[in-house]
Amino acid sequence: MIMPKHVAIIMDGNGRWATKKGLKRSEGHIEGAKVLEKLAMHAIDMGVEVLSVYAFSTDNFKRSKEEVDSLMNLIIKYFKTKFEKINKKGIKVIISGRKEPLREDVLEAINNIEEKTKENKKGILNICLNYGGQEEIIDGAIKLAKDIQNGLDVTDFKREDFYKYLYHELPPIDLVIRTGGELRLSNFMLYELSYSEFYFTNTLFPDFDKSEFNKALFMFENRDRKFGGISEKNN
Ligand code: IPE
Ligand code: IPE
Ligand code: MG
Repeated sequence: MIMPKHVAIIMDGNGRWATKKGLKRSEGHIEGAKVLEKLAMHAIDMGVEVLSVYAFSTDNFKRSKEEVDSLMNLIIKYFKTKFEKINKKGIKVIISGRKEPLREDVLEAINNIEEKTKENKKGILNICLNYGGQEEIIDGAIKLAKDIQNGLDVTDFKREDFYKYLYHELPPIDLVIRTGGELRLSNFMLYELSYSEFYFTNTLFPDFDKSEFNKALFMFENRDRKFGGISEKNN
């Protein structure tokens, strides 16, 4: 099976899942967190090297204080206790996003989980938290500008060279999945997605289980990736 090295998931639909069941939106996020934990283990077992997930966008601060607070509390809880399985499995957890305006206790939980798992080698779980794709490019461009001021020669600067100015130096995304039925990127990993295959599903994230994930992998295997060239399969 041809495995994508880097898979990304826009984990959407938690709120609608809860509302449909007559529950509070925060209940949907709790269910979503459980699914994320299972999927991360499964993806790495399947041979995926990096799994990036969109957990909270810079724009999600537009939501009610109640929802934002409950999400942040859930994230702290997961990083502190629930991610023990992920750690034991040897998965390295990294966070992508801006620090401002995250709460002090959230920043502390981020530091702890990154520190605890930093030697793990089995695979990488990249959690995008207070993350924006345009923001990542802007932040990278500012870092690059500083290097140029300090004398970096950019005569032969290539698109591959920009990866080290992103939040983490990860491989390009091969497959991106969006659950919840919306057909958009919502400012997710714009630089890294340039040649990825897209998989959209109406399944709401709390219902997106291992077999749903495998469907996306099978689809990926049958895509004809050309990267601007000529198809090897169909020529
Ligand atoms: C995705 O689910 C999780 C976050 C954005 C934090 P939503 O909360 O966006 O769920 P819907 O789209 O309202 O159903
Ligand atoms: C994208 O979902 C962000 C996350 C999944 C964390 P949103 O629910 O925020 O996106 P829009 O508002 O539908 O574009
Ligand atoms: Mg949504």
